[in-house]
Amino acid sequence: MNKLYRAYLTAYKLNEKNDDGFFQTVKGIYDSPEVQSLQQYEQHLEIDRLQHITSVSFLAYKACKKLGLDYKSAARAATMHDLFYYDWRDGETGRWHKLHGYKHPKYAALNAKELYPALSRKERDIITHHMWPLTFPLPNSPEGFVVSLSDKFCATMELLYSTNKRCKAKFLRDLEGLDA
Ligand SMILES: [Fe+2]
Ligand SMILES: [Fe+2]
Repeated sequence: MNKLYRAYLTAYKLNEKNDDGFFQTVKGIYDSPEVQSLQQYEQHLEIDRLQHITSVSFLAYKACKKLGLDYKSAARAATMHDLFYYDWRDGETGRWHKLHGYKHPKYAALNAKELYPALSRKERDIITHHMWPLTFPLPNSPEGFVVSLSDKFCATMELLYSTNKRCKAKFLRDLEGLDA
């Protein structure tokens, strides 16, 4: 099993034994009521927003650690990259929030600053530019690129899980066998 896929699977079974220091790094953010409340929102069909940010931030954390980058900033920013408190499919007319893809990084950055006042410039930039290349400019740091790519990888896996029965069955089998 390749390392990227293994790390993605691990994000669904994270605990203090297999987290490689992740929970300690995002302490006070990940376990906050604000971030935990994201479980109530659908992110990609069958996957809720808390699971999505868990996967994105754990992958970015592992990748940045491996690459000798600033894994702490990457993990903190990724944990707040989709920090908005609404379902983007809701609306009085039943239509999606207009331009959600373009707007939500800015809402997330504002909410992140409120939740975590020590938010650095780099962390703010990672959040604001995570939707690149849909939005411009590019992220300003290598950690920003790692988070943006992790986000795309996880979104793809989540959509495959939700729409393709074979992919879902394989994922569940692999997840079951992860500790074996
Ligand atoms: Fe996003
Ligand atoms: Fe995301």
